[in-house]
Amino acid sequence: MILKTTSSLAGKRLLLIIGGGIAAYKCLDLIRRVRERGMTVRCILTRGGAEFITPLSVSALSGEKVYSDLFSLTDEVEMGHIRLSREADLVLVAPATADMMAKMAAGIADNLATTALLATDKPVMIAPSMNSHMWNHAATQRNFNQLVQDGIRTIAPASGDLACGEVGPGRLAEVGDMVAALENFFDVTGPLVGKHILVTAGPTREAIDPVRYIANHSSGKQGYAIARALRNLGARVSLISGPTALEAPDGIERIHIDSARDMLSACKKALPADVAICVAAVADWRMKNVPDQKIKKQDGSLPALQLTENPDILEFLARKTDRRPDLVIGFAAETENIQDNARAKLARKGCDWIVANDVSTRDGGQSVMGGDHNRVSLITESAIEDWEQAPKDEVARRLARKIATHFT
Ligand code: CTP
Repeated sequence: MILKTTSSLAGKRLLLIIGGGIAAYKCLDLIRRVRERGMTVRCILTRGGAEFITPLSVSALSGEKVYSDLFSLTDEVEMGHIRLSREADLVLVAPATADMMAKMAAGIADNLATTALLATDKPVMIAPSMNSHMWNHAATQRNFNQLVQDGIRTIAPASGDLACGEVGPGRLAEVGDMVAALENFFDVTGPLVGKHILVTAGPTREAIDPVRYIANHSSGKQGYAIARALRNLGARVSLISGPTALEAPDGIERIHIDSARDMLSACKKALPADVAICVAAVADWRMKNVPDQKIKKQDGSLPALQLTENPDILEFLARKTDRRPDLVIGFAAETENIQDNARAKLARKGCDWIVANDVSTRDGGQSVMGGDHNRVSLITESAIEDWEQAPKDEVARRLARKIATHFT
């Protein structure tokens, strides 16, 4: 197979959900064409889809196992539907039938395809296809508009002869148009295209017992803003995030973790990376032993919590791995002697840059932790830049531009 690696589809993963329409046959050509461009394709063939094309031809063309039944236990063991829905960069439903669109708009999850669509945290695109009366029906149009409002991307149906003998809108877009829509979706340009950047964000949670934990006030806002700013410059971002209330940013792979040790293993898994930015407020300590049962109160005597130190993720990425990213950046939360303390941290942890965070700054009475503004100094081995107080999004954009300049 000739790989056209210049296509924006190269290296991307598609989850293709093939709906039950006569146009399902076009998906076979679609699979072939996107694979030629370096994309990997996994398919869910709905029961309706399997009336029109066979699982064998789909798996032969995609080179992957085809998934079709939610309740196949073997599939669930090998590849749960949640994982299936998330191990993709984009989910495409083609042909998206009136029935499928109605289920998606209503949030119904009654088979593997609709369940994966509800469970996915990735962008979803639909290519509708149906008879023109069905397409123009108020219910279908209402569902379609709802899906657009829900952030679902669309590949408009074409007008022309329909399989049912009628003429009008409702024909599945041509394969070339679907390939172009996919290429446009992935065609991000920017100075960080081709770079993989790992960002840690948010707090970590360290269990005290099955119901209690140690944590901190980090909201994750600064780390998420940095992840978005890097994505906007074209980078592929892996965001390794502790528990936060923030939405997963579009186009970014978010990996949820709880504890510092989970964060470290997620970072190891995400390597290799060109840049690592540790924004997370990692808990310094965890319980030496976490009891299986809840710690009970005992007549006035206080429990002695024996702590042990957590691994230092920044230091691991900067010093302890043979897959060290080219640029390793740490944050330093300080309340006094900010630059001196941050410089000492830079040397101790072996990173290249430190963004020193003045956490004593008040943001209209709010702390930097959880607030929307930040005042930082960027410290490298040879220079110190003081940046004025700015919204976290602006600090993020400035840092992302600095990183882009580093690679030019
Ligand atoms: N960090 C980390 N893993 C840890 C502790 C900290 O990756 N176990 C990272 C943070 O993400 C940040 C940097 O190290 O990028 C500095 O974190 P900070 O809390 O300021 O420093 P500490 O190392 O915890 O030192 P101290 O609390 O004594 O200031």
